Amino acid sequence: MKILPIASGKGGVGKSLIATNLAIALAEAEKKVVLADLDLGGSNIHMFLGLRSVKSGIGTFLSGSQKFEKIITNTDFNGLRFIPGDAEIPGIADLTHIQKRKLIKNLLALDADYLIIDLGAGTSYNIMDYFLIASSGIIVTTPTLVAILNAYLFLKNAIFRIMYAAFPKNSQAYKYLGKVRDKTSEIQKIYIPKFLQKIKQIDKESYQKYTRQISNFSPFLILNMLDDPKNTDKAGQLRRSVREYLDIDLEHLGVIYKDALHDVALNSRIPIIKYKPNSIISQGIYRIADKILQLESEEKEGPIDLKTLDESYKIAEMEAEIDFQSKLNYIEELLHCGELSKGDLIETIKTQQFEIEKLKNENNLLKKKLVRAIQEGFSA
Ligand SMILES: Nc1ncnc2c1ncn2[C@@H]1O[C@H](COP(=O)(O)OP(=O)(O)OP(=O)(O)O)[C@@H](O)[C@H]1O
Ligand SMILES: [Mg+2]
Repeated sequence: MKILPIASGKGGVGKSLIATNLAIALAEAEKKVVLADLDLGGSNIHMFLGLRSVKSGIGTFLSGSQKFEKIITNTDFNGLRFIPGDAEIPGIADLTHIQKRKLIKNLLALDADYLIIDLGAGTSYNIMDYFLIASSGIIVTTPTLVAILNAYLFLKNAIFRIMYAAFPKNSQAYKYLGKVRDKTSEIQKIYIPKFLQKIKQIDKESYQKYTRQISNFSPFLILNMLDDPKNTDKAGQLRRSVREYLDIDLEHLGVIYKDALHDVALNSRIPIIKYKPNSIISQGIYRIADKILQLESEEKEGPIDLKTLDESYKIAEMEAEIDFQSKLNYIEELLHCGELSKGDLIETIKTQQFEIEKLKNENNLLKKKLVRAIQEGFSA
């Protein structure tokens, strides 16, 4: 079974659309496909499939009220089965490592040719671990700088996650990584190829283990919502940055153009690939499905294994690394290799101003809450 988790740094870039329609396209090619909605807390694949509601899903399985086999449902599409996510169960996005392991074990034991996993946005350790159980997860991005930046940061975080899984605990490499991590301002500045040279010097064994694990990591890229053919080079830019700064290859699966027809399809409750197989989105999806069908269909060992999942639970703070500073560093990296245009910079500044404004508002809200709590404390 080939596993294809679909992730992105930024939200709303088209992961669920691609997951659903790609799953249907692969099923049309007479493959046995399972589509799993692991955007826990934000599950909406059932809507993309045209289902009004779902009775059970991953939440009911994890709460113990239903067996795993029972939550796998048939769909209107031959060869495609579906595992709903359950948006209603509060707190489900934060699974414990025991729940996560139980879920992954069951997913890996599925009888299918392809398992497509729709993930939530962001780089939380939960999302990262679902992404890294497969050797070739798919990163979706749009051509905007912010989306590309977040895709890059997602991959950078994945590299750190793989290092944590590869370096044996108490090894020199593990300690060194921990030491660098403790100085939070330092970790974003790490230039990975140089960092790896250092690891090689101080702890050859860990270094070799990392190179073995990372050789099992060959992520794919899909560039979605393209509105101008000249933006296709955005994928090339990201690939070059990833090659140069993260020391990995990012295989380009294809582009999908923006098409307003999708919302019409959504309203009609028919997946676009069935609603208009000749639309530009559908054509893009079919091209990508063809490419996937030509690749190896057997899953290689992924870059992390189930045994390391407990650790990931402890290093939950990892997601905190994705902050302003690291974004600035990436922009600096892009500036140095001449990848940023004036327009890109203007857009970045605007986005940052927006984020600063948002943080200020959040900060004010928290201050108000604190004042209220203190006042209530006095009056109680
Ligand atoms: N190529 C496209 N052309 C037109 N609209 C698109 C395209 N791709 C996605 N959309 C629209 O963009 C919106 C977001 O898509 P989708 O829900 O698939 O993104 P997502 O990455 O799964 O979002 P989230 O991070 O919230 O889960 C949807 O309304 C979808 O119809
Ligand atoms: Mg989604």
